[in-house]
Amino acid sequence: MEAIECRDVWMIYKTFLERETVALQGVNLKIEQGEIFGILGPNGAGKTTLISIMSTILVPTKGEVKILGLDAFKNTKFVRRKINIASGSRMPWGLRVYECLKFYAMCYGIKDDKKVEELLEMFELKDHRNLRFDELSAGNRQKLNLARALLNDPEIIFLDEPTANLDPDVAKRIREFILDLNEKGKTVVLTTHNMREAEKLCDRIAFLKGGKVYAVGDLNYFKKLIKKREKIVVEFSGEVDLKSLKYPYELDGNKLTVFVEDSEKEIVDLMVKLQGSKIESIKVEGVTLEDVFIEIAKLRY
Ligand SMILES: Nc1ncnc2c1ncn2[C@@H]1O[C@H](COP(=O)(O)OP(=O)(O)OP(=O)(O)O)[C@@H](O)[C@H]1O
Ligand SMILES: [Mg+2]
Repeated sequence: MEAIECRDVWMIYKTFLERETVALQGVNLKIEQGEIFGILGPNGAGKTTLISIMSTILVPTKGEVKILGLDAFKNTKFVRRKINIASGSRMPWGLRVYECLKFYAMCYGIKDDKKVEELLEMFELKDHRNLRFDELSAGNRQKLNLARALLNDPEIIFLDEPTANLDPDVAKRIREFILDLNEKGKTVVLTTHNMREAEKLCDRIAFLKGGKVYAVGDLNYFKKLIKKREKIVVEFSGEVDLKSLKYPYELDGNKLTVFVEDSEKEIVDLMVKLQGSKIESIKVEGVTLEDVFIEIAKLRY
């Protein structure tokens, strides 16, 4: 049984003056139990909408969502006990850290403090327990959001941009928390604009574009999706004439990156073209998820 299944999910927002925005157009997805699943895509692709629908916060215009085999919108009460979501949401009123967790714990019928204290400890929030949400740094707010999402010990956790706007150190800690959760058997569904994060965390990825799933697969699948598999990175000084280059390239100051299918075959040809300049260094790298992302985002379909 899959953790999540979306069948032909559509979302059409009705906005001011009956204007409509089609945010999702027939999304089909299956997410396995125990996976860390990433939803990637450019701004406005529909990631937040999809994750909100999967976590039963939004009801889709059309389509079916199954959570652990059950229709999420016919068994919402039961399903909500099994899932939780952390998004950039605010906490209510001017509650303090401890009070926030206590409030939500009570919503789940958790009466004793054990779970709350455990989460304060786990997310390094003990020293901040008496600070108000507004007084917290972005990193601690995000930790509190994560802690809150774990109160009901969910089997599936949805995270909308869990490390957005965080310094590298806190972002790293949050990624470690996510990996720990996954090791404990939790299914994690997350969105991110950080491609290196997606590479590090995700077992599989869905790439959304214009409200449709463009591709689903693991990292290798995505890297094979674009023809160009390797990058030759050359640092040079002097002038180069790039007009005759037959491959796509990026020029950043004196650093030239050429995208090729097979570097062994192309490197000599490239050297000949760069004869007029002095080559400082040259290396061959595999393409990254970021390269793939940019390539797919450019495609029209
Ligand atoms: N509450 C809303 N009312 C009307 N339109 C909305 C609403 N929320 C989102 N949209 C529209 O739906 C589309 C998808 O938005 P969504 O927020 O799901 O994208 P996203 O992939 O999460 O983007 P981002 O990367 O910027 O977070 C966009 O065109 C957006 O303007
Ligand atoms: Mg979003």
